[in-house]
Amino acid sequence: MNKLDTSLVAVALQQAGFTQTSKITEAGVVLINTCSVRQHAEDRVFSHLGHLKHLKESRPEIIVAVIGCMAQRLGKELLDHEAVDIVCGPAQITQIPELIGQALANKTKTLVVTEKIRKKPPTDEANSLDEFEFCYDRVDDRIPAQAYVRVMRGCNKFCTYCVVPYVRGQEISRPPNAIIEQIKKLADQGAKQITLLGQTVNSYKYNAGDKSYSLADILEMASDIEPVKWLRFITSYPADFDEAILHAVAGLPKLCPYLHVPAQSGSDKILNAMNRHYTSGEYLALLERARRIVPNIAIAGDFIVGFPGESDEDFQATADLVKQAQYKNCFVFKYSPRPGTGADKKLTDTVPLDVKKQRNTALLEIQNEISEKYNKSFLGQTLEIMVEGLSKKPHLNKAENNHPQLVGRTATDYIVVFNGPEILAGEFAKVKITKTSPLTLFGEIV
Ligand code: 5AD
Ligand code: SF4
Repeated sequence: MNKLDTSLVAVALQQAGFTQTSKITEAGVVLINTCSVRQHAEDRVFSHLGHLKHLKESRPEIIVAVIGCMAQRLGKELLDHEAVDIVCGPAQITQIPELIGQALANKTKTLVVTEKIRKKPPTDEANSLDEFEFCYDRVDDRIPAQAYVRVMRGCNKFCTYCVVPYVRGQEISRPPNAIIEQIKKLADQGAKQITLLGQTVNSYKYNAGDKSYSLADILEMASDIEPVKWLRFITSYPADFDEAILHAVAGLPKLCPYLHVPAQSGSDKILNAMNRHYTSGEYLALLERARRIVPNIAIAGDFIVGFPGESDEDFQATADLVKQAQYKNCFVFKYSPRPGTGADKKLTDTVPLDVKKQRNTALLEIQNEISEKYNKSFLGQTLEIMVEGLSKKPHLNKAENNHPQLVGRTATDYIVVFNGPEILAGEFAKVKITKTSPLTLFGEIV
């Protein structure tokens, strides 16, 4: 969501006449798009702001705008920071070019956020966000031929640890025609892979007259659009998972057989305290159904370790779930209390940091073994990938004459590193797997 918002704002500013620079010393305007999901993300923003305060001592004319979830969460507190000129919430990003213009002209501090974040937003706000997204959405500049399309905003689930409902507001599904028109526009610009976004993407629901559209309907409508070859959707919520989505993945060739469906915990006691509305048994039954309907599906998950009250037995239940789930990969986070959330108001952060760290490492170790096993099974196979660009590091393969190394992903989201020319970025390629590690496949282009 944040990558998409950053890109929308960057394109809107380019169209308003700004040019982007990667050097902060050259910048007249600095924007920081922020995340509030864990304290660590917020701490990093404050550290950036500390540097910017320093920079502004010698260049006071610089305009600093903080946008996104932290802006919505902290509002005035952020505006009071010496380095900050503009604080703009996620629902107000449409106003960014105008706000920056005003700040450059008269140097006043401005705060624009949603006052009552859980109130249904007025229709004109939703319409202007839709319009902004339609106008400024582009194929990714870092991964050529990839684009994100939001199918819904906000969240109504209120998992007790999570800040999202308080910063992104009520769940609102976008009209199907807005989504489809946007995919067509991106396809005309050369998008070959579209990732549909929603906090609980499988809850997508739009009522138009007597017809109700689900995510399965959107997937079916989107799968006719050329030259899009791969369609993905993230992230799914495990309860109320409509089987029609799985049948769409099984039946429509463009749909990537990949599901990101966070479990968060394997303990029913903790799942209940997290307000997740499913048991570990129901979660595992969903994975079984997914694998029955889509036999080659790759599944990824998220976990939070150290949620208040998580005992050794509860953690053991999570470890057992990870073993049973047989994920392709999973993301593990240490519980971070978020002010204003149910867990923070009602529960104490009881699990000490070193225990959280131990559990985090232990869970990743279990998962690494599983990932390694999957990865090894690809040895000798030729896989189709979409090339994303130069691999993060190293770009040059020292063992082989400093040949450029590229990175791509399979439809099932496996990361593949191989030697090849950078010009392949944004293309599909076939790579024969010759070596594996727990996190990466290595191969030779065929
Ligand atoms: N502390 C730690 N992790 C969190 N997540 C969400 N809220 C918190 C929190 N307060 C994790 C969940 C979610 C992912 C995006 O971030 O696992 O799926
Ligand atoms: Fe947060 Fe839960 Fe909504 Fe996901 S479903 S965004 S974890 S409240």
